[in-house]
Amino acid sequence: MEERIQTLLREVNAYAADGKQALEAFRMKYVSRKGIIGDLFEELKKVPAEQKKNVGKVLNELKKAAESKLSELSATLEAGVDSQTDLDLTLPPVPNQVGNLHPLTLTRYRIIEIFERLGFNVADGPEIEDDWHNFSALNFPENHPAREMQDTFFVEKKGTGGAKQDVLLRTHTSNVQIRMMEKQQPPLRAIMPGRVYRNEAISARAHCFFHQVEGLYVDRNVSFADLKQTLYHFAKEMYGKDIKIRFRPSYFPFTEPSAEIDISCLICKGSGCNVCKHTGWVEIAGSGMVHPNVLKNCNIDPEEYTGFAFGMGIERVTMLRYQINDLRLFSENDVRFLRQFQPVI
Ligand code: PHE
Repeated sequence: MEERIQTLLREVNAYAADGKQALEAFRMKYVSRKGIIGDLFEELKKVPAEQKKNVGKVLNELKKAAESKLSELSATLEAGVDSQTDLDLTLPPVPNQVGNLHPLTLTRYRIIEIFERLGFNVADGPEIEDDWHNFSALNFPENHPAREMQDTFFVEKKGTGGAKQDVLLRTHTSNVQIRMMEKQQPPLRAIMPGRVYRNEAISARAHCFFHQVEGLYVDRNVSFADLKQTLYHFAKEMYGKDIKIRFRPSYFPFTEPSAEIDISCLICKGSGCNVCKHTGWVEIAGSGMVHPNVLKNCNIDPEEYTGFAFGMGIERVTMLRYQINDLRLFSENDVRFLRQFQPVI
């Protein structure tokens, strides 16, 4: 009898159930009361007393083995590991669909990171603005053609008819400069990222809305050298040490002297493309020393304080960073485009 039990023990241990039916068959054959093991316990009663102890021991082992085999088999089946289905554990997992940060967001974060290390705060302001903060305080004379440099969307106030329009969608982030200087005396050092609007036809190079980061630093003895060095530092941090940068004299009503900042085109590496208009240089920012009239408009004494300001287009900076040659891609929300950027972790 002991030998029969040992054979059954081997059988039980080697048993492989490949489905619910086989599992039930196993239970019926071994574990159930009417199964083989049950019968053997009946038989045990007839075994001579001197053998009973030994046979009983192995029979109990068999019983335990069968029970634990049963729970092991049903656990594997429950976990779905059923060789009757087409489960292939070597297949790669279905990828998790995680979102991406928009390339403009990634660039904005990077710009903020670079300037925060230089001690710039981040400030914010309204997108719907009045004439004072967008134009007049920034030394745009009324009816001056400088206002037309920035084709403006005006917001019509109910009932004002053809009267002078005072509410508009801001054409640049320079309005935040004014709001900040009105509230705070120098030293001031902040960057101001945000969305701006201009009435322009949409093309690969222009859009009716885009994003800027304005920078402002006002304190005693701030000089053009500070402006230059700050922007040199920024360009090198953003694009690497080999980037070339140039300052071109320019005009803005709110800065004097003013300069536009170009960097070497990273898309064509100087050989000419639509982004650099085949010049090898791309304008990324306007800049200059804050005009004394602007300081005065904000109750800051221009005899005591000087400052520099700059404003850059986040789209432009991003296009050069990732070699993107069409501005429209940023607002089309095509996932094939968006997926190419760093996923959210
Ligand atoms: N506000 C200017 C523009 O939108 C950029 C600028 C900002 C220029 C600050 C000089 C100083 O074109």
